[in-house]
This record gives sequence, C-alpha cells and structure tokens, in this order.
Amino acid sequence: MPQLAPSPVLPNPALPSPGRAPPRRGTLLRARAVRAASRPPSQWTVGSWRDRPALQQPEYPDKAELDEVLRTVDAFPPIVFAGEARRLEERLADAAVGRAFLLQGGDCAESFKEFNANNIRDTFRVLLQMSVVLMFGGQVPVVKVGRMAGQFAKPRSDGFEDRDGVKLPSYRGDNINGDAFDEKSRVPDPHRMIRAYSQSAATLNLLRAFATGGYAAMQRVTQWNLDFTQHSEQGDRYMELAHRVDEALGFMAACGLTLDHPIMTQTEFWTSHECLLLPYEQALTREDSTTGLYYDCSAHFLWVGERTRQLDGAHVEFLRGIANPLGVKVSDKMDPAELVRLIDILNPDNRAGRITIITRMGPETMRVKLPHLIRAVRGAGQIVTWVTDPMHGNTMKAPCGLKTRSFDRILAEVRAFFDVHEQEGSHPGGVHLEMTGQNVTECIGGSRTVTFDDLSSRYHTHCDPRLNASQSLEMAFIIAERLRKRRIASWPLSMNQLGSFPSMGL
Ligand code: PEP
Ligand code: CO
Repeated sequence: MPQLAPSPVLPNPALPSPGRAPPRRGTLLRARAVRAASRPPSQWTVGSWRDRPALQQPEYPDKAELDEVLRTVDAFPPIVFAGEARRLEERLADAAVGRAFLLQGGDCAESFKEFNANNIRDTFRVLLQMSVVLMFGGQVPVVKVGRMAGQFAKPRSDGFEDRDGVKLPSYRGDNINGDAFDEKSRVPDPHRMIRAYSQSAATLNLLRAFATGGYAAMQRVTQWNLDFTQHSEQGDRYMELAHRVDEALGFMAACGLTLDHPIMTQTEFWTSHECLLLPYEQALTREDSTTGLYYDCSAHFLWVGERTRQLDGAHVEFLRGIANPLGVKVSDKMDPAELVRLIDILNPDNRAGRITIITRMGPETMRVKLPHLIRAVRGAGQIVTWVTDPMHGNTMKAPCGLKTRSFDRILAEVRAFFDVHEQEGSHPGGVHLEMTGQNVTECIGGSRTVTFDDLSSRYHTHCDPRLNASQSLEMAFIIAERLRKRRIASWPLSMNQLGSFPSMGL
C-alpha cells in the first residue's frame, strides 16, 4: 500500500488562534490534550469490515470487474492528506468546548451531471458568507467543512422504487448507479467509482485554489455576495455586515496591523462525506508514514449514517481503525447507553475532536431525547462535539409529491438544539446543513418565501431537498444571533448590561 509523505507539522496558517477563553457556562469536562493515537486498534485491518454484516452495499454483477476497479483506485494518489485531517481534529476539539463553531454543509448528493466550476464556487461562496456571519456573532473561529468532493453514496430506506407499477432497484448515488428510472441505469457499475474519484479530486483542487489563492481573502468580504442574492433582504443584510467587517479591516490596517498575512488572505476548508461504500473507502485508505496510522484519504472527515451505525456492523468496524475525525448521525432511535458504547468503540482513547455527534430527530423529539444523550455521554466522561443536522428529521412530502422541508421546522430544530445545550450546560458545537449556493426551490419558507407551488420550478436535487443560498444565509444570521446571545450571557453582569440591544431570531 502506498505510503503518504511525512506530514509537516506547521502552525495553522489560516485561522486566528482559538484565543478566547471558553464561555463560562457549559460542561466542566476537560478535553484531554489533543494528541494522535499511537497505533491502529487491535485486530483491525483495512479489510476487517468484510467479516461483519455490511448494510446498504450494492450487489455488483461482475466481481472480477469490481476487483479490477478497486485495484485501480488503490493505486491512485490520496485525495487528502493525513496532516490535514489531524489539523481538522484539533479544530473540532475547539468546537467541543465552545472555542470554535462547526459549519458543515453542501449537497445531499453530489452528482456527475451538476459538476461544474460555478456550482462549486457558489456553494463555497455561500459557506464563506455564512462563516463571516457566524464568526461575527459568535466571535469564535468557524470551522468550514463541505459536504463536497466525495458525497456520492446514498443510503436508502427502501431497496426498491415503485413507479406506476414498475419496480426497480433504488438509486444509490452517482458512484453506484444512475438515477434515471430504467433498468440499465439502476445496475451498479463499479467504473462509476473512478469517475467519483476524479470528480472529488477536481472539486477539491478548485476548493483549495479558492481557499488559498486569494478568493477567500478577508479583504474580499464585500465581493462574495451572489448575483441573485443582491438586492434581496438577506443579500442587503449580508452587505451591511460585510461593510462593517471591511471598516474594521481598514481600522486594523491604519493601526499598522498587516493584512497580507495568510490569516487574512487564506482560509482553511475541509471536505467530508458519508462513509458508506466500503470497498471504495478501503481502496483509498493509506498508512501514514509519519505515525503508522491509517487514514481514509477520500476526505478529511467521514461520518457513519443513521442506517449503518450498528455496533457490530461493517461500517463501525472500518471506521474504528481509521484516524480521521469521525461523525456519527443520531436519530431518536439511539439509546443513550448504545451511544456511549459506540463512542467507546470509535474513540477508546477519548481524544477530543475525534467524534462529532450529529443529531437529527425533529424539534419535539430533540427536546425530549437529547438531554438523555448528553447526560449519558457526560456521565461516561466522553468528549464529543455536539452538532445539529436539522434537515433529516424534517423531511416531508409536498402535495405535488416532491420531498421537501420547511424552513420553520428546520429552524425549530436548531432552536431546540441550542435550548437543550443551554439547559444542560453543554456546548452547541455546530450545524450540519444540506444546502447549495444555487437559487433552487426545494425547501419551503424563508424570507423570500418558497411555497409548495414554487417547488417544481427549480427542484434540482439528486436526493434530499436543500436550503438555497438565501435560506442558508438567513439561517446563518439567525444562528449568529443566538451565538451572540450566548456570548453576551457569559459576560460579567456589568458588560452584559452594556451589550443589550434588541433581540431577534432564535
Ligand atoms: C444524509 O446525511 O444525507 C443522510 C442520509 O443522513 P442520515 O444518515 O442521518 O439519514
Ligand atoms: Co440527505
């Protein structure tokens, strides 16, 4: 198996140091010093998942063809590199204790058809805008992670799709089969993995160029507004804030602080996807020559989905041995004791930043269930980063038959997430959204109201409905306001009084 080049241990060039003390309130658990595990766990190999039940895997008709493709992918260069994944783990450790906030977002499913530079740029750009808004409100670094450059495999609740009496295998994502409703498209084709690899590499190449080549420079904050959000309520709101940031930069420059430092001219951006198609993930796993650890080099961050997180299942077996930071999707079906067990399997050394728990259960259920999960995890002394995915517990069918989500329900789940963490004294560490920089009509509501009747006009998703650019920005403003309130509430009383001004949002 090819070795990775040694990872240089460089100070983070792009983000301000965590700096601020964590908010006064919140968990008293102390994160262990961040350090990498020293060796892969016992009895684990890159292929040990094959001895466990593997759910949601395609049945490829030709095994020889599959093996040949996997050998090809195995010989390809890694898409990401171990040192980057380690740095992300450090950032997530900050989010676990309230010293940073995670913004994770992108398509439900990337597709071969929608692959072009404008789509990548627009999603990146709206994530940059959202991060400025969140940073301004929370006054903490925002850790930006795209559901991008590899988010191709989809778990399905039903293995078959029925249309007008015709039954075909379900679409499982562009790296497995095609979404056209015909027999040929739905046959799993291993060669799709090669195309998914190439698209991921090309997407990340452009993202890296944007992140480090000047596009993401803070001095350009006023230029990130998307054409179609200009002169809209959210666009105007963004421009007002951007001008304030711009003025602050002018002030800093006048004070003699240099603005051409990489902290100001570059940003850090990471990639993530669901670790679902195990043969592909195995083929991109490499031993890091610096540490002897194994990294899944298909993305910086991998998560295990709600449907494949069984304690004795193949996905958990695979993930426990790779050293990337990991996410776990958690619905209301998760029992607190099971969650503790799962975290223990995936993070026996209790490394801060290693595990992000992404809850997705609908607002009402969250208020009932999340406190028990938080207490169980805290009781076990486990350090995790708590994140809300307000999308997957709020999917419904519109009268026209399309899947949609309501902006108000999404917001209600975000609100429940913040409320529960406030009540439990734990840290709301971030948000995980299905969103796009495009002006789509897939989720209803928002200030530029999308109605049920509008849905079919620009409904482009290959799987679940996404927030459009304006809805994403609106969500960021509301969350930023909540972060600001949390921050102010942690100030001493005298400053608290100084800081009070009209409230809005969550
Ligand atoms: C997803 O994130 O697209 C997804 C399928 O999530 P979950 O596993 O939480 O249903
Ligand atoms: Co989805």
